[in-house]
Amino acid sequence: MKPLKADELRKKFIDFFVSKGHTQISGASVIPENDPTVLFTTAGMHPLVPYILGQPHPAGTRLTDYQKCIRTGDIDSVGDPHHLTCFEMLGNWSLGDYFKKEMIPWSYEFLTKELGIDPDKLSVTVFEGEEGIPRDTESAELWHSMGIPYERIYFLPREDNWWGPAGETGPCGPDTEMFIDTGRPACGPDCKPGCGCGKYFEIWNDVLMGYNKNKEGKFVEMERKCIDTGMGIERTIAILQGKKSVYETEVMQPILKRIGELAGVEYGKDDKTDISMRIIADHIRTSTFILGDQRGCTPSNVGQGYILRRLIRRAVRNGKHLGIQGTFLAKVAEIVIDLYSAPYPELLQNKDKVFDELTKEEIKFSETLEKGEKQFEKMTFFMEKQGIKEIAGGSAFKLYDTFGFPIELTQELAAEKGFTVDVKGFNEAFAKHQELSRTAEAGQFKSGLGDHSEQTTALHTATHLLHAALRKVLGDHVGQKGSNITPERLRFDFSHNEKMTKEQIQQVEDLVNDAIKRDLQVSVETMTPQEAVDKGAVAFFSSKYGEQVTVYTIGDFSKEVCAGPHVKHTGDMGHFHILKEESSSSGVRRIKAVLEK
Ligand code: ALA
Repeated sequence: MKPLKADELRKKFIDFFVSKGHTQISGASVIPENDPTVLFTTAGMHPLVPYILGQPHPAGTRLTDYQKCIRTGDIDSVGDPHHLTCFEMLGNWSLGDYFKKEMIPWSYEFLTKELGIDPDKLSVTVFEGEEGIPRDTESAELWHSMGIPYERIYFLPREDNWWGPAGETGPCGPDTEMFIDTGRPACGPDCKPGCGCGKYFEIWNDVLMGYNKNKEGKFVEMERKCIDTGMGIERTIAILQGKKSVYETEVMQPILKRIGELAGVEYGKDDKTDISMRIIADHIRTSTFILGDQRGCTPSNVGQGYILRRLIRRAVRNGKHLGIQGTFLAKVAEIVIDLYSAPYPELLQNKDKVFDELTKEEIKFSETLEKGEKQFEKMTFFMEKQGIKEIAGGSAFKLYDTFGFPIELTQELAAEKGFTVDVKGFNEAFAKHQELSRTAEAGQFKSGLGDHSEQTTALHTATHLLHAALRKVLGDHVGQKGSNITPERLRFDFSHNEKMTKEQIQQVEDLVNDAIKRDLQVSVETMTPQEAVDKGAVAFFSSKYGEQVTVYTIGDFSKEVCAGPHVKHTGDMGHFHILKEESSSSGVRRIKAVLEK
Protein backbone atom coordinates (compact mmCIF):
# COMPACT_ATOMS: atom_id res chain seq x y z
CA MET A 1 0.00 0.00 0.00
CA LYS A 2 1.25 3.47 -0.76
CA PRO A 3 1.60 5.35 2.53
CA LEU A 4 -0.06 8.48 1.21
CA LYS A 5 -0.47 11.64 3.25
CA ALA A 6 -3.85 13.40 3.41
CA ASP A 7 -2.86 16.05 0.86
CA GLU A 8 -1.64 13.39 -1.58
CA LEU A 9 -4.73 11.24 -1.21
CA ARG A 10 -7.03 14.23 -1.74
CA LYS A 11 -5.19 15.13 -4.94
CA LYS A 12 -4.96 11.58 -6.24
CA PHE A 13 -8.68 11.00 -5.81
CA ILE A 14 -9.74 14.24 -7.48
CA ASP A 15 -7.21 13.79 -10.35
CA PHE A 16 -8.39 10.23 -10.92
CA PHE A 17 -12.02 11.24 -11.32
CA VAL A 18 -11.16 14.30 -13.39
CA SER A 19 -9.33 11.88 -15.72
CA LYS A 20 -12.62 9.95 -15.94
CA GLY A 21 -14.51 12.99 -17.17
CA HIS A 22 -15.60 14.49 -13.82
CA THR A 23 -15.61 18.17 -12.94
CA GLN A 24 -14.14 19.13 -9.60
CA ILE A 25 -16.59 21.26 -7.61
CA SER A 26 -16.05 23.06 -4.28
CA GLY A 27 -17.15 21.39 -1.12
CA ALA A 28 -19.93 23.19 0.75
CA SER A 29 -20.36 24.67 4.22
CA VAL A 30 -20.52 22.32 7.22
CA ILE A 31 -23.84 23.97 8.03
CA PRO A 32 -26.40 22.70 5.51
CA GLU A 33 -28.28 25.36 3.60
CA ASN A 34 -31.25 23.35 2.48
CA ASP A 35 -31.90 20.80 5.16
CA PRO A 36 -33.46 21.99 8.41
CA THR A 37 -33.70 18.42 9.73
CA VAL A 38 -30.01 18.08 10.56
CA LEU A 39 -27.50 20.43 12.16
CA PHE A 40 -24.41 19.64 10.10
CA THR A 41 -23.32 18.35 6.72
CA THR A 42 -22.64 14.67 7.34
CA ALA A 43 -21.62 13.45 3.88
CA GLY A 44 -20.33 14.69 0.56
CA MET A 45 -23.69 14.06 -1.10
CA HIS A 46 -25.62 16.16 1.39
CA PRO A 47 -25.20 19.50 -0.43
CA LEU A 48 -25.95 17.71 -3.72
CA VAL A 49 -29.37 16.33 -2.77
CA PRO A 50 -31.38 18.63 -5.10
CA TYR A 51 -29.19 17.56 -8.03
CA ILE A 52 -29.43 13.88 -7.23
CA LEU A 53 -33.21 14.38 -7.22
CA GLY A 54 -33.16 15.84 -10.72
CA GLN A 55 -32.25 19.53 -10.75
CA PRO A 56 -29.50 20.09 -13.38
CA HIS A 57 -26.09 20.85 -11.88
CA PRO A 58 -24.24 23.71 -13.59
CA ALA A 59 -21.01 21.67 -13.66
CA GLY A 60 -22.58 18.71 -15.44
CA THR A 61 -23.46 15.12 -14.60
CA ARG A 62 -20.06 13.86 -13.39
CA LEU A 63 -18.79 15.59 -10.25
CA THR A 64 -16.06 15.09 -7.68
CA ASP A 65 -15.01 16.96 -4.54
CA TYR A 66 -13.78 16.79 -0.97
CA GLN A 67 -16.19 17.81 1.75
CA LYS A 68 -15.69 18.70 5.42
CA CYS A 69 -18.24 16.72 7.42
CA ILE A 70 -19.36 16.77 11.04
CA ARG A 71 -21.03 13.86 12.78
CA THR A 72 -21.82 14.49 16.42
CA GLY A 73 -23.86 11.36 17.18
CA ASP A 74 -20.89 9.74 18.90
CA ILE A 75 -19.56 12.80 20.74
CA ASP A 76 -19.38 10.84 23.99
CA SER A 77 -17.11 8.23 22.39
CA VAL A 78 -14.48 10.82 21.45
CA GLY A 79 -11.42 10.23 23.58
CA ASP A 80 -10.98 6.65 22.39
CA PRO A 81 -8.41 6.18 19.60
CA HIS A 82 -10.98 5.94 16.79
CA HIS A 83 -13.71 8.52 16.99
CA LEU A 84 -13.63 11.93 15.36
CA THR A 85 -16.46 14.44 15.18
CA CYS A 86 -15.08 16.13 12.05
CA PHE A 87 -13.63 14.43 9.00
CA GLU A 88 -13.08 14.96 5.30
CA MET A 89 -14.98 12.91 2.75
CA LEU A 90 -13.80 12.33 -0.80
CA GLY A 91 -16.60 11.68 -3.24
CA ASN A 92 -17.66 11.36 -6.85
CA TRP A 93 -21.14 11.51 -8.32
CA SER A 94 -23.02 10.43 -11.36
CA LEU A 95 -26.17 12.49 -11.78
CA GLY A 96 -28.12 10.11 -14.01
CA ASP A 97 -24.95 9.51 -16.02
CA TYR A 98 -22.95 6.28 -15.46
CA PHE A 99 -23.94 3.53 -13.02
CA LYS A 100 -22.50 0.32 -11.59
CA LYS A 101 -20.80 -0.92 -14.77
CA GLU A 102 -18.45 2.06 -14.75
CA MET A 103 -18.23 2.70 -11.01
CA ILE A 104 -17.18 -0.74 -9.83
CA PRO A 105 -14.25 -1.08 -12.28
CA TRP A 106 -13.14 2.47 -11.38
CA SER A 107 -13.30 1.67 -7.67
CA TYR A 108 -11.20 -1.43 -8.23
CA GLU A 109 -8.72 0.50 -10.37
CA PHE A 110 -8.37 3.32 -7.86
CA LEU A 111 -7.88 1.02 -4.89
CA THR A 112 -5.42 -1.37 -6.50
CA LYS A 113 -3.50 0.88 -8.91
CA GLU A 114 -3.63 4.36 -7.35
CA LEU A 115 -3.57 3.35 -3.69
CA GLY A 116 -1.57 0.18 -4.34
CA ILE A 117 -3.79 -2.04 -2.22
CA ASP A 118 -3.10 -5.75 -2.63
CA PRO A 119 -6.19 -7.20 -4.42
CA ASP A 120 -5.94 -10.30 -2.22
CA LYS A 121 -6.71 -8.13 0.81
CA LEU A 122 -9.90 -6.68 -0.65
CA SER A 123 -13.40 -7.88 0.23
CA VAL A 124 -16.67 -6.30 -0.81
CA THR A 125 -20.27 -6.37 0.34
CA VAL A 126 -23.39 -6.03 -1.80
CA PHE A 127 -27.11 -5.76 -1.00
CA GLU A 128 -28.78 -9.13 -0.43
CA GLY A 129 -32.20 -7.86 -1.49
CA GLU A 130 -35.57 -7.77 0.23
CA GLU A 131 -39.22 -7.63 -0.74
CA GLY A 132 -39.55 -5.22 -3.64
CA ILE A 133 -35.82 -4.50 -3.94
CA PRO A 134 -33.75 -7.05 -5.88
CA ARG A 135 -30.62 -8.82 -4.74
CA ASP A 136 -27.64 -7.02 -6.25
CA THR A 137 -26.12 -9.87 -8.22
CA GLU A 138 -25.08 -7.41 -10.91
CA SER A 139 -22.61 -5.66 -8.58
CA ALA A 140 -21.38 -9.02 -7.31
CA GLU A 141 -20.69 -10.18 -10.90
CA LEU A 142 -18.93 -6.92 -11.69
CA TRP A 143 -16.65 -7.34 -8.67
CA HIS A 144 -16.04 -10.93 -9.65
CA SER A 145 -15.11 -9.92 -13.19
CA MET A 146 -12.51 -7.57 -11.65
CA GLY A 147 -10.93 -10.57 -9.95
CA ILE A 148 -12.52 -10.65 -6.50
CA PRO A 149 -13.37 -14.30 -5.75
CA TYR A 150 -16.93 -15.13 -4.69
CA GLU A 151 -15.73 -16.04 -1.16
CA ARG A 152 -14.85 -12.42 -0.64
CA ILE A 153 -18.12 -11.01 -1.98
CA TYR A 154 -20.68 -10.87 0.81
CA PHE A 155 -24.43 -10.35 0.41
CA LEU A 156 -25.71 -8.42 3.40
CA PRO A 157 -29.09 -6.99 4.44
CA ARG A 158 -30.34 -3.43 4.72
CA GLU A 159 -28.68 -2.83 8.10
CA ASP A 160 -25.28 -3.15 6.44
CA ASN A 161 -25.77 -2.38 2.78
CA TRP A 162 -28.19 0.49 2.52
CA TRP A 163 -27.19 4.12 2.79
CA GLY A 164 -29.17 7.27 3.47
CA PRO A 165 -30.99 9.49 3.37
CA ALA A 166 -28.66 12.00 4.99
CA GLY A 167 -31.52 13.90 6.64
CA GLU A 168 -35.08 12.74 7.33
CA THR A 169 -35.98 12.54 3.67
CA GLY A 170 -34.10 12.34 0.37
CA PRO A 171 -32.14 10.04 -1.89
CA CYS A 172 -30.85 6.71 -0.68
CA GLY A 173 -30.26 3.21 -1.93
CA PRO A 174 -28.38 -0.04 -1.67
CA ASP A 175 -24.63 0.26 -1.57
CA THR A 176 -21.54 -1.78 -2.18
CA GLU A 177 -18.75 -1.33 0.34
CA MET A 178 -15.07 -2.11 0.07
CA PHE A 179 -13.02 -3.51 2.92
CA ILE A 180 -9.37 -4.19 3.61
CA ASP A 181 -8.42 -7.22 5.65
CA THR A 182 -6.08 -5.83 8.32
CA GLY A 183 -4.59 -9.26 8.95
CA ARG A 184 -5.89 -9.36 12.52
CA PRO A 185 -7.42 -12.67 13.63
CA ALA A 186 -11.12 -13.17 12.99
CA CYS A 187 -13.34 -12.78 16.07
CA GLY A 188 -15.19 -16.00 15.24
CA PRO A 189 -16.39 -18.23 12.43
CA ASP A 190 -18.98 -15.65 11.36
CA CYS A 191 -16.54 -12.75 11.22
CA LYS A 192 -16.96 -10.83 7.97
CA PRO A 193 -16.86 -7.29 6.61
CA GLY A 194 -19.14 -5.08 8.63
CA CYS A 195 -18.30 -6.90 11.88
CA GLY A 196 -17.00 -4.35 14.38
CA CYS A 197 -14.08 -6.44 15.71
CA GLY A 198 -11.48 -4.56 13.69
CA LYS A 199 -10.37 -7.30 11.27
CA TYR A 200 -12.11 -5.70 8.29
CA PHE A 201 -11.64 -2.03 7.66
CA GLU A 202 -14.15 -0.19 5.48
CA ILE A 203 -12.33 2.01 3.02
CA TRP A 204 -14.94 3.16 0.52
CA ASN A 205 -18.66 3.15 -0.06
CA ASP A 206 -20.37 3.26 -3.45
CA VAL A 207 -24.04 4.10 -3.00
CA LEU A 208 -26.30 3.08 -5.85
CA MET A 209 -28.84 5.84 -5.39
CA GLY A 210 -32.16 4.58 -6.66
CA TYR A 211 -34.80 5.62 -4.10
CA ASN A 212 -36.19 8.76 -2.54
CA LYS A 213 -37.51 8.53 1.00
CA ASN A 214 -40.47 10.89 1.23
CA LYS A 215 -42.07 12.68 4.19
CA GLU A 216 -44.45 9.77 4.73
CA GLY A 217 -41.44 7.50 5.16
CA LYS A 218 -42.03 5.66 1.85
CA PHE A 219 -39.18 4.67 -0.45
CA VAL A 220 -40.11 5.80 -3.95
CA GLU A 221 -37.99 4.50 -6.80
CA MET A 222 -36.19 7.31 -8.69
CA GLU A 223 -36.49 7.28 -12.45
CA ARG A 224 -32.95 8.42 -12.91
CA LYS A 225 -30.34 6.40 -11.03
CA CYS A 226 -27.31 8.13 -9.52
CA ILE A 227 -23.98 7.16 -7.97
CA ASP A 228 -22.73 8.66 -4.70
CA THR A 229 -19.45 7.52 -3.21
CA GLY A 230 -17.64 8.42 -0.02
CA MET A 231 -14.13 7.76 1.28
CA GLY A 232 -13.01 9.22 4.61
CA ILE A 233 -9.58 10.78 4.37
CA GLU A 234 -8.42 10.39 7.96
CA ARG A 235 -9.35 6.72 8.18
CA THR A 236 -7.92 5.91 4.79
CA ILE A 237 -4.53 7.50 5.38
CA ALA A 238 -4.33 5.75 8.76
CA ILE A 239 -4.73 2.35 7.10
CA LEU A 240 -2.46 3.19 4.15
CA GLN A 241 0.24 4.38 6.51
CA GLY A 242 -0.13 1.31 8.71
CA LYS A 243 -1.10 3.44 11.72
CA LYS A 244 -3.24 2.00 14.48
CA SER A 245 -5.30 5.14 14.84
CA VAL A 246 -6.26 8.34 13.03
CA TYR A 247 -4.65 10.18 15.93
CA GLU A 248 -1.26 8.84 14.87
CA THR A 249 -1.40 10.44 11.43
CA GLU A 250 0.06 13.74 10.29
CA VAL A 251 -3.32 15.48 10.49
CA MET A 252 -3.67 14.91 14.25
CA GLN A 253 -0.08 14.59 15.50
CA PRO A 254 0.85 18.30 15.27
CA ILE A 255 -2.34 19.20 17.18
CA LEU A 256 -1.53 16.67 19.90
CA LYS A 257 2.04 17.91 20.00
CA ARG A 258 0.89 21.49 20.62
CA ILE A 259 -1.46 20.33 23.38
CA GLY A 260 1.44 18.36 24.87
CA GLU A 261 3.67 21.44 24.87
CA LEU A 262 0.98 23.51 26.56
CA ALA A 263 0.37 20.84 29.20
CA GLY A 264 3.96 19.67 29.62
CA VAL A 265 3.09 16.08 28.75
CA GLU A 266 3.76 13.77 25.83
CA TYR A 267 1.17 11.90 23.78
CA GLY A 268 1.32 8.12 24.00
CA LYS A 269 2.79 7.87 27.48
CA ASP A 270 -0.25 7.65 29.70
CA ASP A 271 -3.73 6.40 28.84
CA LYS A 272 -5.60 8.90 30.96
CA THR A 273 -3.67 11.88 29.65
CA ASP A 274 -4.08 10.60 26.09
CA ILE A 275 -7.86 10.57 26.43
CA SER A 276 -7.94 14.23 27.46
CA MET A 277 -5.49 15.11 24.70
CA ARG A 278 -7.62 13.39 22.06
CA ILE A 279 -10.78 15.08 23.33
CA ILE A 280 -9.14 18.51 23.11
CA ALA A 281 -7.58 17.77 19.71
CA ASP A 282 -10.83 16.53 18.21
CA HIS A 283 -13.11 19.12 19.78
CA ILE A 284 -10.94 22.12 18.92
CA ARG A 285 -10.39 20.84 15.40
CA THR A 286 -14.16 20.59 14.93
CA SER A 287 -14.81 23.92 16.66
CA THR A 288 -12.29 25.55 14.32
CA PHE A 289 -14.13 24.11 11.32
CA ILE A 290 -17.49 25.35 12.64
CA LEU A 291 -16.28 28.84 13.60
CA GLY A 292 -14.11 29.24 10.51
CA ASP A 293 -16.78 28.01 8.09
CA GLN A 294 -18.19 30.22 5.34
CA ARG A 295 -21.52 30.06 7.18
CA GLY A 296 -19.89 29.70 10.58
CA CYS A 297 -21.86 30.25 13.76
CA THR A 298 -20.77 31.21 17.26
CA PRO A 299 -21.38 29.49 20.60
CA SER A 300 -24.97 29.80 21.77
CA ASN A 301 -27.75 27.86 23.39
CA VAL A 302 -29.43 26.64 20.23
CA GLY A 303 -28.74 24.47 17.23
CA GLN A 304 -25.22 24.33 15.87
CA GLY A 305 -24.11 27.00 18.37
CA TYR A 306 -25.07 24.71 21.21
CA ILE A 307 -22.98 21.82 19.84
CA LEU A 308 -20.10 24.25 19.42
CA ARG A 309 -20.53 25.38 23.03
CA ARG A 310 -20.49 21.78 24.26
CA LEU A 311 -17.34 21.00 22.27
CA ILE A 312 -15.50 24.05 23.57
CA ARG A 313 -16.56 23.59 27.18
CA ARG A 314 -15.60 19.92 27.15
CA ALA A 315 -12.20 20.87 25.75
CA VAL A 316 -11.73 23.50 28.48
CA ARG A 317 -12.53 20.99 31.18
CA ASN A 318 -10.08 18.48 29.74
CA GLY A 319 -7.44 21.21 29.56
CA LYS A 320 -7.91 21.64 33.32
CA HIS A 321 -7.46 17.88 33.76
CA LEU A 322 -4.10 18.21 32.04
CA GLY A 323 -3.18 21.14 34.25
CA ILE A 324 -2.95 23.67 31.43
CA GLN A 325 -2.78 27.20 32.86
CA GLY A 326 -4.36 30.22 31.21
CA THR A 327 -6.28 30.30 27.95
CA PHE A 328 -5.05 27.81 25.39
CA LEU A 329 -7.74 26.98 22.85
CA ALA A 330 -6.65 29.59 20.29
CA LYS A 331 -3.12 28.20 20.48
CA VAL A 332 -4.43 24.78 19.51
CA ALA A 333 -6.66 26.24 16.78
CA GLU A 334 -3.59 27.95 15.28
CA ILE A 335 -2.19 24.52 14.41
CA VAL A 336 -5.51 23.35 12.96
CA ILE A 337 -5.62 26.39 10.69
CA ASP A 338 -1.99 25.83 9.61
CA LEU A 339 -2.78 22.24 8.71
CA TYR A 340 -5.95 23.01 6.76
CA SER A 341 -5.70 26.47 5.27
CA ALA A 342 -4.66 25.16 1.83
CA PRO A 343 -7.69 22.94 1.19
CA TYR A 344 -10.01 25.21 3.24
CA PRO A 345 -8.92 28.85 2.73
CA GLU A 346 -12.01 30.08 4.62
CA LEU A 347 -10.25 29.02 7.83
CA LEU A 348 -7.50 31.55 7.19
CA GLN A 349 -9.98 34.25 6.20
CA ASN A 350 -11.90 33.71 9.43
CA LYS A 351 -8.84 33.18 11.60
CA ASP A 352 -9.43 36.17 13.90
CA LYS A 353 -13.03 35.19 14.44
CA VAL A 354 -11.94 31.65 15.34
CA PHE A 355 -9.38 32.86 17.88
CA ASP A 356 -11.65 35.54 19.38
CA GLU A 357 -14.68 33.36 19.77
CA LEU A 358 -12.73 30.45 21.22
CA THR A 359 -11.01 32.68 23.74
CA LYS A 360 -14.21 34.52 24.68
CA GLU A 361 -16.05 31.28 25.32
CA GLU A 362 -13.06 29.84 27.14
CA ILE A 363 -12.77 32.81 29.52
CA LYS A 364 -16.48 32.87 30.12
CA PHE A 365 -16.58 29.19 31.01
CA SER A 366 -13.29 29.03 32.94
CA GLU A 367 -14.63 31.61 35.37
CA THR A 368 -17.54 29.42 36.35
CA LEU A 369 -16.12 25.94 35.78
CA GLU A 370 -14.29 25.79 39.08
CA LYS A 371 -17.18 27.23 41.07
CA GLY A 372 -19.58 24.90 39.31
CA GLU A 373 -17.41 21.88 40.05
CA LYS A 374 -17.26 22.89 43.71
CA GLN A 375 -21.05 23.21 43.74
CA PHE A 376 -21.30 19.80 42.10
CA GLU A 377 -18.98 18.25 44.70
CA LYS A 378 -20.98 19.78 47.53
CA MET A 379 -24.21 18.60 46.03
CA THR A 380 -23.08 15.04 45.47
CA PHE A 381 -21.44 14.86 48.90
CA PHE A 382 -24.76 15.51 50.61
CA MET A 383 -26.65 13.30 48.23
CA GLU A 384 -24.25 10.45 48.90
CA LYS A 385 -24.93 10.79 52.62
CA GLN A 386 -28.63 10.47 51.98
CA GLY A 387 -28.18 7.60 49.58
CA ILE A 388 -29.54 9.58 46.68
CA LYS A 389 -27.98 8.76 43.37
CA GLU A 390 -29.97 10.85 40.96
CA ILE A 391 -29.26 14.53 40.52
CA ALA A 392 -32.56 16.36 40.50
CA GLY A 393 -33.62 18.28 37.40
CA GLY A 394 -33.65 21.54 39.33
CA SER A 395 -30.05 21.04 40.52
CA ALA A 396 -28.87 20.23 37.01
CA PHE A 397 -30.68 23.33 35.82
CA LYS A 398 -28.90 25.42 38.46
CA LEU A 399 -25.54 24.12 37.20
CA TYR A 400 -26.61 25.10 33.70
CA ASP A 401 -28.09 28.47 34.51
CA THR A 402 -25.59 29.72 37.08
CA PHE A 403 -22.38 28.00 36.02
CA GLY A 404 -22.95 27.36 32.32
CA PHE A 405 -22.75 23.57 32.54
CA PRO A 406 -24.33 22.01 29.48
CA ILE A 407 -26.57 19.18 30.68
CA GLU A 408 -24.29 16.71 28.90
CA LEU A 409 -21.35 17.95 30.99
CA THR A 410 -23.35 17.44 34.18
CA GLN A 411 -24.19 13.95 32.97
CA GLU A 412 -20.52 13.28 32.28
CA LEU A 413 -19.46 14.51 35.75
CA ALA A 414 -22.31 12.51 37.28
CA ALA A 415 -21.33 9.32 35.46
CA GLU A 416 -17.74 9.67 36.65
CA LYS A 417 -19.07 9.43 40.21
CA GLY A 418 -21.73 6.82 39.57
CA PHE A 419 -24.64 9.25 39.65
CA THR A 420 -27.39 9.77 37.11
CA VAL A 421 -29.25 12.96 36.19
CA ASP A 422 -32.98 13.51 35.95
CA VAL A 423 -32.88 14.94 32.45
CA LYS A 424 -36.66 15.06 32.20
CA GLY A 425 -36.76 17.20 35.32
CA PHE A 426 -34.00 19.35 33.87
CA ASN A 427 -35.99 19.90 30.69
CA GLU A 428 -39.04 20.83 32.74
CA ALA A 429 -37.07 23.29 34.86
CA PHE A 430 -35.61 24.63 31.68
CA ALA A 431 -38.96 25.02 29.96
CA LYS A 432 -40.23 27.01 32.92
CA HIS A 433 -37.48 29.54 32.39
CA GLN A 434 -37.66 29.80 28.66
CA GLU A 435 -40.45 30.46 26.29
CA LEU A 436 -39.75 27.72 23.83
CA SER A 437 -41.42 28.52 20.56
CA ARG A 438 -42.60 25.73 18.32
CA THR A 439 -39.94 26.37 15.74
CA ALA A 440 -37.49 23.97 14.20
CA GLU A 441 -34.88 25.63 16.33
CA ALA A 442 -36.72 24.66 19.46
CA GLY A 443 -36.87 21.11 18.18
CA GLN A 444 -33.15 21.03 17.63
CA PHE A 445 -32.61 22.52 21.04
CA LYS A 446 -34.68 19.87 22.68
CA SER A 447 -32.76 17.04 21.08
CA GLY A 448 -29.51 18.82 21.86
CA LEU A 449 -30.41 18.62 25.51
CA GLY A 450 -30.76 14.88 25.88
CA ASP A 451 -34.37 14.56 24.99
CA HIS A 452 -36.80 12.51 27.00
CA SER A 453 -39.42 12.16 24.40
CA GLU A 454 -41.78 9.23 24.06
CA GLN A 455 -39.31 7.51 21.71
CA THR A 456 -36.36 7.67 24.09
CA THR A 457 -38.49 6.56 27.02
CA ALA A 458 -39.78 3.58 25.04
CA LEU A 459 -36.23 2.72 23.95
CA HIS A 460 -35.16 2.86 27.57
CA THR A 461 -37.81 0.28 28.48
CA ALA A 462 -36.81 -1.75 25.41
CA THR A 463 -33.25 -1.78 26.78
CA HIS A 464 -34.51 -3.51 29.94
CA LEU A 465 -36.45 -6.05 27.90
CA LEU A 466 -33.38 -6.66 25.75
CA HIS A 467 -31.15 -7.11 28.79
CA ALA A 468 -33.57 -9.64 30.30
CA ALA A 469 -33.99 -11.46 26.98
CA LEU A 470 -30.21 -11.70 26.50
CA ARG A 471 -29.84 -13.26 29.94
CA LYS A 472 -32.59 -15.76 29.16
CA VAL A 473 -31.03 -16.73 25.82
CA LEU A 474 -27.30 -16.48 26.51
CA GLY A 475 -27.09 -16.96 30.28
CA ASP A 476 -26.66 -15.06 33.52
CA HIS A 477 -23.11 -13.98 32.72
CA VAL A 478 -24.65 -11.27 30.54
CA GLY A 479 -24.47 -7.92 32.26
CA GLN A 480 -24.81 -4.36 31.05
CA LYS A 481 -21.52 -2.70 30.14
CA GLY A 482 -22.91 0.45 28.63
CA SER A 483 -26.00 1.97 27.13
CA ASN A 484 -26.70 4.90 24.87
CA ILE A 485 -30.08 6.00 23.62
CA THR A 486 -30.95 8.52 20.94
CA PRO A 487 -34.50 9.20 19.72
CA GLU A 488 -33.79 6.84 16.80
CA ARG A 489 -32.16 3.79 18.37
CA LEU A 490 -30.75 2.12 21.41
CA ARG A 491 -27.22 0.88 21.78
CA PHE A 492 -26.46 -1.72 24.41
CA ASP A 493 -23.07 -3.16 25.38
CA PHE A 494 -22.98 -6.35 27.39
CA SER A 495 -20.54 -8.96 28.63
CA HIS A 496 -20.45 -12.01 26.37
CA ASN A 497 -17.53 -13.70 24.70
CA GLU A 498 -18.82 -14.81 21.33
CA LYS A 499 -20.61 -13.44 18.38
CA MET A 500 -24.31 -14.24 18.70
CA THR A 501 -25.72 -16.65 16.14
CA LYS A 502 -28.60 -15.67 13.84
CA GLU A 503 -30.85 -18.00 15.84
CA GLN A 504 -29.91 -16.38 19.16
CA ILE A 505 -30.58 -12.93 17.76
CA GLN A 506 -33.95 -14.12 16.49
CA GLN A 507 -34.80 -15.68 19.87
CA VAL A 508 -33.94 -12.45 21.67
CA GLU A 509 -36.03 -10.38 19.26
CA ASP A 510 -38.95 -12.79 19.64
CA LEU A 511 -38.79 -12.72 23.44
CA VAL A 512 -38.77 -8.92 23.49
CA ASN A 513 -41.61 -8.65 20.98
CA ASP A 514 -43.60 -11.20 22.89
CA ALA A 515 -43.15 -9.17 26.10
CA ILE A 516 -44.29 -6.07 24.23
CA LYS A 517 -47.35 -7.86 22.85
CA ARG A 518 -48.34 -9.11 26.28
CA ASP A 519 -48.71 -5.45 27.29
CA LEU A 520 -46.88 -5.90 30.60
CA GLN A 521 -47.26 -3.35 33.38
CA VAL A 522 -44.17 -1.41 34.38
CA SER A 523 -44.02 -0.69 38.09
CA VAL A 524 -41.50 1.12 40.23
CA GLU A 525 -40.53 0.72 43.90
CA THR A 526 -37.85 2.13 46.15
CA MET A 527 -35.80 -0.20 48.33
CA THR A 528 -32.28 -0.90 49.62
CA PRO A 529 -29.84 -2.59 47.25
CA GLN A 530 -29.93 -5.73 49.40
CA GLU A 531 -33.72 -5.92 49.12
CA ALA A 532 -33.41 -5.38 45.40
CA VAL A 533 -30.95 -8.25 45.06
CA ASP A 534 -33.11 -10.45 47.30
CA LYS A 535 -36.05 -9.78 45.04
CA GLY A 536 -34.00 -10.89 42.06
CA ALA A 537 -33.38 -7.47 40.51
CA VAL A 538 -30.49 -7.12 38.13
CA ALA A 539 -28.22 -4.48 39.60
CA PHE A 540 -25.15 -3.72 37.58
CA PHE A 541 -22.81 -0.99 38.89
CA SER A 542 -24.09 -2.24 42.25
CA SER A 543 -21.18 -0.94 44.32
CA LYS A 544 -21.93 2.60 43.27
CA TYR A 545 -25.51 2.63 44.41
CA GLY A 546 -26.58 4.46 47.54
CA GLU A 547 -28.80 3.22 50.31
CA GLN A 548 -32.06 3.49 48.44
CA VAL A 549 -32.50 2.44 44.85
CA THR A 550 -35.41 2.43 42.47
CA VAL A 551 -36.34 -0.90 40.96
CA TYR A 552 -38.34 -1.13 37.77
CA THR A 553 -40.32 -4.30 37.23
CA ILE A 554 -41.76 -5.17 33.84
CA GLY A 555 -44.45 -7.80 34.44
CA ASP A 556 -42.84 -11.21 34.99
CA PHE A 557 -40.10 -10.44 32.48
CA SER A 558 -37.59 -8.03 33.95
CA LYS A 559 -36.59 -6.48 37.26
CA GLU A 560 -33.78 -4.02 37.22
CA VAL A 561 -32.28 -1.27 39.36
CA CYS A 562 -32.50 1.91 37.33
CA ALA A 563 -33.32 5.60 37.53
CA GLY A 564 -35.93 5.57 34.76
CA PRO A 565 -37.96 6.97 33.12
CA HIS A 566 -39.95 4.15 31.55
CA VAL A 567 -43.26 3.62 29.79
CA LYS A 568 -46.17 2.63 32.02
CA HIS A 569 -47.00 -0.52 30.07
CA THR A 570 -45.32 -2.17 27.12
CA GLY A 571 -48.26 -2.54 24.73
CA ASP A 572 -47.69 0.25 22.27
CA MET A 573 -43.90 0.44 22.16
CA GLY A 574 -43.78 -0.83 18.58
CA HIS A 575 -41.90 -3.72 16.99
CA PHE A 576 -38.45 -4.41 18.39
CA HIS A 577 -35.78 -5.06 15.79
CA ILE A 578 -32.04 -5.70 16.21
CA LEU A 579 -30.07 -3.87 13.53
CA LYS A 580 -26.61 -5.03 14.42
CA GLU A 581 -24.72 -7.32 16.77
CA GLU A 582 -21.00 -6.75 16.82
CA SER A 583 -17.92 -6.79 18.96
CA SER A 584 -17.42 -3.67 21.08
CA SER A 585 -14.22 -4.61 22.88
CA SER A 586 -12.68 -7.75 24.28
CA GLY A 587 -15.43 -9.83 25.90
CA VAL A 588 -18.03 -7.18 25.24
CA ARG A 589 -20.66 -7.31 22.49
CA ARG A 590 -22.72 -4.41 21.19
CA ILE A 591 -26.29 -4.40 19.93
CA LYS A 592 -27.99 -1.61 18.08
CA ALA A 593 -31.75 -1.89 17.89
CA VAL A 594 -34.84 0.12 17.04
CA LEU A 595 -38.55 0.19 17.80
CA GLU A 596 -40.51 0.25 14.56
CA LYS A 597 -43.99 1.71 14.67
N1 ALA B 1 -22.90 9.08 1.20
C1 ALA B 1 -22.17 7.88 1.41
C2 ALA B 1 -21.51 7.82 2.76
O1 ALA B 1 -21.55 8.76 3.50
C3 ALA B 1 -21.16 7.70 0.33
O2 ALA B 1 -20.96 6.79 3.12
